[in-house]
Amino acid sequence: MKIAISGKGGVGKTTLAGVLARTLSAQSETVLAIDADPDSNLASAVGVPLDLLTNITPLAEMTHFIEERTETKKGGYGSIFKLNPKVDDIPEKFSIDYKGVKLLILGSVPQGGGGCFCPENVLLKNLLSHLFIQRNETVIVDMEAGLEHLGRGSTSYVDAFIVVVEPGMRSIQTALQIKKLASDLGIKRVFVVGNKVQADEDRQVITENLDDFPILGLMAYNPKVLEADRKGVSPYDIDEQIKDEVDTILKNLRNQFTS
Ligand SMILES: Nc1ncnc2c1ncn2[C@@H]1O[C@H](COP(=O)(O)OP(=O)(O)OP(=O)(O)O)[C@@H](O)[C@H]1O
Ligand SMILES: [Mg+2]
Repeated sequence: MKIAISGKGGVGKTTLAGVLARTLSAQSETVLAIDADPDSNLASAVGVPLDLLTNITPLAEMTHFIEERTETKKGGYGSIFKLNPKVDDIPEKFSIDYKGVKLLILGSVPQGGGGCFCPENVLLKNLLSHLFIQRNETVIVDMEAGLEHLGRGSTSYVDAFIVVVEPGMRSIQTALQIKKLASDLGIKRVFVVGNKVQADEDRQVITENLDDFPILGLMAYNPKVLEADRKGVSPYDIDEQIKDEVDTILKNLRNQFTS
């Protein structure tokens, strides 16, 4: 399964991506977690301790490596570079391993009008299509908030989107737009996970407005998730309830792939 987790800002994408990656690895699956948000914070949701992180440079900032791989030659009128750089050794070279989760931090790709055509972008796009098409492990991508990344086509080869929503029309509207854009990209499977659910009305607003989507499950509003964030640890390591909820979400996700 190659899954991208998307949705409006602050709904819980990173929380879900981190706990899902840990759940998969606890079930002995090989899992590659990709932080594709320029404001990278998936590592802490996976539980990677801060001191392990200080030496890590996001891939997009490895200028020298990118120039080497893309054979960039800078000239008076921009630059010339290779369109099919070698990428297959990147996960092994640059991912951090934590409790069975391989984590790769992509970092910020400079944006130009209409999507930048630059060596960083070419390398990252090649890397993502390699990971989605040619690798065997389960891939979980934590996307940046909103819709803009869908226009860049970097997720064209995922098997499914999970859109996280909270009980409110704003994140639900975003989910509806993501579904439309995903279908334009040819991605048929778009699932929903509801987060920060407290009352029956919360459940209702999600199920009634998103009745076209398979809903993989709900996660309750949970003070332990906030506590984990405050402490910089994964909710997976301090709370049983979210583990159970994500376990159910994963079961339902697998069912969607077998049915
Ligand atoms: N079930 C929950 N109960 C309470 N707080 C939660 C829950 N899920 C997430 N949060 C909190 O909401 C905030 C946003 O969560 P998170 O970073 O996972 O969202 P995000 O969608 O990845 O945000 P961004 O769009 O900024 O990347 C965090 O402080 C997190 O601890
Ligand atoms: Mg996030």
